[in-house]
Amino acid sequence: MNIIETTEELRRTLAPVRGRERIAFVPTMGCLHEGHLGLIRKARRLADIVVVSIYINPMQFGPNEDFDAYPRTFEQDSALCEKEGVDIIFHPHNLYPVDGIKVSLRVSELDGCLCGASRPGHFNGVVTVVNMLFNIVQPDIAIFGEKDWQQLAIISRMVSDLHMGVEIIGAPTLRENDGVALSSRNRYLSIEDRSKAPRLHEALQSIQNLLEQGETQSSKLIELGKARLADAGITPEYLEIRNAVTLQTANTIDAPCRVFIAARIGNTRLIDNIPLEHATDRESDRIIEPATETLL
Ligand code: PAJ
Repeated sequence: MNIIETTEELRRTLAPVRGRERIAFVPTMGCLHEGHLGLIRKARRLADIVVVSIYINPMQFGPNEDFDAYPRTFEQDSALCEKEGVDIIFHPHNLYPVDGIKVSLRVSELDGCLCGASRPGHFNGVVTVVNMLFNIVQPDIAIFGEKDWQQLAIISRMVSDLHMGVEIIGAPTLRENDGVALSSRNRYLSIEDRSKAPRLHEALQSIQNLLEQGETQSSKLIELGKARLADAGITPEYLEIRNAVTLQTANTIDAPCRVFIAARIGNTRLIDNIPLEHATDRESDRIIEPATETLL
């Protein structure tokens, strides 16, 4: 495995294989867990060369967010990558010009809801860095987790709006056995917080169950989910049902929809989402892979 820190060296290393071998790219901010490893394994199955980037992108953190505190665990991350058969780790020190970025990408509409509403500028930072990384790596395919569905939807739209020749592939959310989605931020949870965390996925699941029993009005489904959360003393930042592609609010469940949640447990903000499917649609007519995969 090659650990590369500069753009020039990465270009030089990939030049001989470009166009001849399929390059898969998995962008990350490090502190790798099984969720990331699931993306890497998918990349390994689908391509000849697997490139993983580890870069904590300052532009996607708000002024009061956890950029400085974000865990940096490079030694452990590189050992995990090596074990998974990653070919190249791209670990740049800084991708931004020293006098500040003057030309960047801006998302419209798709970032006006869900996490975009409470994290202004966050998705501009994400698309700008992902665009930089795509320009540097020039992959054939790139893998993103469905856990960050809004990010996946926005990046898919960026690639199609800007005619970038990269195929975007979603990978299912990996969860602990009690349903908690794996996240680098779970390490911030106290024991008490951690015992509350499964309530988020349970609320999403209860909405899916009610849908299967025939309730198709979003307002009713959300009411039930909020009641479930209230029982556990949780007031979500949002609990919403939206179209999976346009992210527009869905009043009834007819097109492919997902239910999204963000909530603070203690001081930690957790997010999750699952697809909503009528009982008759389950296992058939899937446009994407199932979002729920439990760790063995
Ligand atoms: P990061 O939070 O490190 O996540 C890297 C990738 O891992 C993302 O595509 C994310 O959706 C995926 N991921 C995280 N937890 C997951 C889980 N439990 N199951 C499946 N996939 C999971 O997302 C980012 O970094 C950044 O915004 C980035 C795209 C790298 C741009 O800076």
